[in-house]
Amino acid sequence: MQETGKIWMNGKLVPFKDAKVHVLTHALHYSTSIFEGIRCYDTPKGSAIFRLPEHMDRFFKSAKLYSMKMQFSKQQVTDAIIETVKASGLKECYIRPLAYYGYGTMGLTPVQNKVDVSIACWEWKMGESKAGKFSGAKCKVSSWIKIDSRSQPMQAKAASNYANAALARMEALDNGYDEAIMLNSSGKVAEGSAENIFVVKDDVIQTPPLSAGGLEGITRDSVIQIIEENGGFVIERDLERDDLYSADEIFMTGTAAEVKSVIQVDKVKIGNGKMGHVTKVLQKSFLDVALGTDERFLPWLTFI
Ligand SMILES: Cc1ncc(COP(=O)(O)O)c(C=O)c1O
Repeated sequence: MQETGKIWMNGKLVPFKDAKVHVLTHALHYSTSIFEGIRCYDTPKGSAIFRLPEHMDRFFKSAKLYSMKMQFSKQQVTDAIIETVKASGLKECYIRPLAYYGYGTMGLTPVQNKVDVSIACWEWKMGESKAGKFSGAKCKVSSWIKIDSRSQPMQAKAASNYANAALARMEALDNGYDEAIMLNSSGKVAEGSAENIFVVKDDVIQTPPLSAGGLEGITRDSVIQIIEENGGFVIERDLERDDLYSADEIFMTGTAAEVKSVIQVDKVKIGNGKMGHVTKVLQKSFLDVALGTDERFLPWLTFI
């Protein structure tokens, strides 16, 4: 990791290398933290953070689901994000706000501990990677079942959700794939390890409903709105594993991944094994929106 700029910790910008926590921090032991992943784009009109209010809404919703008493308001965290990006000197970056039960009392019950908040940002270019949006990812249907809301609140973007996702990702990589696709306990397609998923069949774009267990992705919502604004539509329906294998195209969406093509699932080639036309068009439309060249979606950008 390139150490760039400063990290905001509970109201102060500290040098990157000094942003440390105590080893008895509650969240380190019991996964009691929530976070966001946000992108700032270098647009022709200056740096702009993509859908910042929506990320802030999800951040505070996640905190609520873990009974966190936030010592900062939504506006204060929003301002702190802008301050941290400015302090980084980066024109484009990935931004990671984090709230966690901190150091104080050890034991399972977190609520006596103060909720600490930090914000870091760094360079994260995804498009060039093997599994990135240009070349297309090879995905493995995971043998790990996606955990669901019967066990913990899955609409919280919580660290505790990601042990399950990391196991799936590691299994995929160990088997020579780039990414995992997770099924839920009913065998329906939920999502990737850190992305939502879409399938194109006979020119119809489909995605699992949120009830299948995927995160309510902000990129997922953006892509659906872009498609609708351009006169198309997306069908939300439960998808079987078969729907993956027989798809003409598959793509995944996420803040880090943006719009990423999937060209293989298990040993099955998707379509002709190359990125499909719908995915290619969407990648371009999404980038136009994120870079502010599509005027219709300018309200989604917070210029800093
Ligand atoms: C499990 C999971 N699903 C989906 C997504 C996509 O969400 P978003 O588009 O808001 O980044 C993410 C990324 O944050 C994720 O971690």
